[in-house]
Amino acid sequence: MHDDVKRAVAVLQRGGLVGLPTETVYGLGADASNELAVRRIFAVKGRPSNHPLIVHVAHVDEAKTRAASWPEAAEVLARAFWPGPLTLIVRRAPTVSDAVTGGQDTVGLRVPDHPLALELLRAFGGGVAAPSANRYGKVSPTTAQHVIDELGNEVDVVLDGGPCRVGVESTIVDVSGPSPRLLRPGGVPREAIERALGRTVALVTEAADVRAPGLVASHYAPRAGLWVVDAEALPAEAARRLAQGVQVAALVPAGVPTPPGVVRFEVAGDDAAYARALYATLRAVDERSLDVVLAVPPSATGVGLAVLDRLRRAAAPRPATR
Ligand code: TXA
Ligand code: MG
Repeated sequence: MHDDVKRAVAVLQRGGLVGLPTETVYGLGADASNELAVRRIFAVKGRPSNHPLIVHVAHVDEAKTRAASWPEAAEVLARAFWPGPLTLIVRRAPTVSDAVTGGQDTVGLRVPDHPLALELLRAFGGGVAAPSANRYGKVSPTTAQHVIDELGNEVDVVLDGGPCRVGVESTIVDVSGPSPRLLRPGGVPREAIERALGRTVALVTEAADVRAPGLVASHYAPRAGLWVVDAEALPAEAARRLAQGVQVAALVPAGVPTPPGVVRFEVAGDDAAYARALYATLRAVDERSLDVVLAVPPSATGVGLAVLDRLRRAAAPRPATR
């Protein structure tokens, strides 16, 4: 076993916090059965305590012990996509703590597809509650350095698993009700979920009955203002803002021109590459203290749907307190 993993297991056992690499984004992990440790996650993130956390486990059998019932749809999706970027919402077993579920009668479960995460989960033997390792409403971390930069003083150990392969969060599918619902587009494409289930799955965007911070308006936001702009409109829009004396960044495919003075971040190639680069690019925009970022949207298919969702939320109006 890696020495770092040993250290991380010890940290979890004594109620500490671990920066945890996964294939999607880095998590801020704690022993899911330790209420005090779980409460510390909320304090460090500045996250409202009624917003539930995902419990990460090493194996589907571990997930089942935390569910009050395990519907056929859960079985099909777990078999198809675990380990992987999919979170299943199921009715929770009574042993799952209120601190984790925010008092709801369901729990989010996921087996991540990352060798270090799986090694840690196996060695620890329990569930690890982990939201993305960023402050509430901000951009998720996709490298160990991002976690250290943002939460370094408050995390007991950060496991470095390299840059995240997927780059956006897991797809969340609620299978606790009569028909499966997509709560958050993510690393597993909606089309793949629908193919596995043999049915269409509704995307729940602004459901009032779901307390998911990933569904509130402003989220995943950099400090810079963000606008989603079509490729054709981007050059003129960038020129207009430059003329106002604003420092402009652009997230653009290679072929899209930008006026001189715009800081270009090319989101080369396919939607998967866009997803992988998205959060690191938004961090880079902030590091360079640019004022606004104009982002060309990807297609609304495959993992592109998750990128589009994050861009729209990053572009949403922000509360004055943030
Ligand atoms: O890829 C991911 O899912 C990453 C990595 C670390 O696993 N985690 C992540 O966690 O994105 P977080 O807390 O940033 O987002 C989890 C989302 C939240 O929107 C939360 O409200 C929702 O999952 N969620 C968790 N449990 C839920 C439940 N019982 N019912 C509805 N939504 C739930
Ligand atoms: Mg998050």
